[in-house]
Amino acid sequence: MNKTILDLEVKHREELNANYVLLVTTHKSKLPPMLPGQFAQLRVDNEPKVMLRRPISINYVDYDKNEVWFLIQKVGKGTEKLAEVKVGGTINTLFPLGSTFTIPQDTSESLLLVGGGVGVAPLLFLGAVLKKQGFKPAFLLGARTDKDLLQINDFKKFGRVFTTTEDGSEGEKGFVTHHSVFKEETFDKVYTCGPRPMMEAVATLAKEKGFDCEVSLENMMACGIGACLCCVEETTKGNVCTCTEGPVFNTKELLW
Ligand code: FES
Repeated sequence: MNKTILDLEVKHREELNANYVLLVTTHKSKLPPMLPGQFAQLRVDNEPKVMLRRPISINYVDYDKNEVWFLIQKVGKGTEKLAEVKVGGTINTLFPLGSTFTIPQDTSESLLLVGGGVGVAPLLFLGAVLKKQGFKPAFLLGARTDKDLLQINDFKKFGRVFTTTEDGSEGEKGFVTHHSVFKEETFDKVYTCGPRPMMEAVATLAKEKGFDCEVSLENMMACGIGACLCCVEETTKGNVCTCTEGPVFNTKELLW
């Protein structure tokens, strides 16, 4: 899949809560093909202290409206600056990058998409593509409190949504791996993205239950194109760059 660099224009900006901003972007030319799991490298302008682009998951793509969405978590100067870009402003974007989630052949397969924190971002696009292809995906989304659950109404358009919060303010209290859906249902495949301890717990549970499992790693990235080696992950094939060989891996390939 060819990479491209475009100055994407912010068409809509929405503060989802104190830490997260949704940027809906577009371009006057047709956007390139993108697949769930891929990410973009967004250049941070007007901030001399930030030299490197920031890796941001592709949150959703609407080809009819020629839109690509990014969910920005404000975790430092670079992402704070990106989150400040106003409607009409542009973001220089290198995309699409990285590997993609695997879509099964058989639409009768039962699929669970498990996300936490900003890790829910790529799962919205994945859920949309799965639904369009005839699957009935279910989502399990975890957060600290109800205010930290993101894009719930968007997820509901594509399948059943289960939630957990650590304080019990929404859905079941506790972590995603404690949710009753794991006791009551079986799945052919689980996809997960979020904090590493959460993904490791989901991968362990999936292994115990015999579900296939794909994870999207959020290793630190700088260049995003396999040049700096800061994103290396140990796999069964040796050390690989998460930005080019990942970010999506089947857990059978990882040493977890
Ligand atoms: Fe530079 Fe992966 S981010 S090699």
